[in-house]
Amino acid sequence: APHLLSVTQFQRDSLGDLLRLAGSLEPVAQRHKTCRVLEGAVLGNLFFEPSTRTRLSFGAAFCRLGGAVCDTTGFTFSSMAKGESLADTSRVVAGYFDAIVVRHPETGSVARFAENIEVPVVNGGDGAGEHPTQALVDVYTMEKEFARLGKTLDGATVALVGDLRHGRAVQSLFRILTLYRQLSFKLVAPGGLEMPTELIDAAVTLGHQVTQHSTLQGGLRDADLVYATRIQKERMQEEAAEGYPARFRIDKSAISRLAPADVVILHPLPRDSAPEANDLSCDLDADPRLAIFRQTDNGVAVRMAVFATLLGVEAQIPACLRDANW
Ligand code: CP
Repeated sequence: APHLLSVTQFQRDSLGDLLRLAGSLEPVAQRHKTCRVLEGAVLGNLFFEPSTRTRLSFGAAFCRLGGAVCDTTGFTFSSMAKGESLADTSRVVAGYFDAIVVRHPETGSVARFAENIEVPVVNGGDGAGEHPTQALVDVYTMEKEFARLGKTLDGATVALVGDLRHGRAVQSLFRILTLYRQLSFKLVAPGGLEMPTELIDAAVTLGHQVTQHSTLQGGLRDADLVYATRIQKERMQEEAAEGYPARFRIDKSAISRLAPADVVILHPLPRDSAPEANDLSCDLDADPRLAIFRQTDNGVAVRMAVFATLLGVEAQIPACLRDANW
């Protein structure tokens, strides 16, 4: 079965096809309509880690394609709490659903879940591994935001800021962005939380420029886009999280002092809402350059496109959209 486990499954062409399909589905997603190409299908949404955006936008996407959704959240609500293995769980639920989304705290667990079953499985985040659909939402949002500004993602300068070592969303994004041409990456991270070397080497091999920065000053200069990330407290020792420096906070002052006037600001969310939080300040919320909620809105159309592609119904979508009574 076709699974979506990693962004490395995409080439530039297949990525373009998926993003175009998402664009065609946006009216359905954003005007709260349905395009019933998955009528009768049922999605298993298995989240063994907390989630707001990923779980609910996957659920909404499947419903907007005419399907139905069964959800489970946390280990305590599955028989894994009684010691059942991931392999047995996978085999059991494969008998119930037409597609399955899994989020799980262990790196590689979603690939293991998908190994012996025929039902398409989508990785909703596996530990410190990958978060492929977040990366798809992110590049979709970047393309849209840049188009509004008359820019393209090819040739752009992209600053990735924060905990780049443990963030699966930012690592999946970094990987998928290497499919574009001649990007200049500015990686801004505190010591010990830098992007893994093998990912940097792979980007350089593909012709991208990568510089690393330990302060926002150098990192934000000339950036067409700033992508802030939360410190992944759940994936590190408590002391390391406490020592995370405030100088990496993206706020009104940092943006006005250090970034170009037409910069686009994204964050995969959730952001830390504590007053002393150091990822993305709420003082930017009224700033139109902050695109975080346009980014979350885009999650439904992109995930509709993922399901339509994996379940092989994408060819039916144009007719379905033509017949729609908007
Ligand atoms: N961006 C993201 O994965 O958010 P959730 O954890 O709320 O799904």
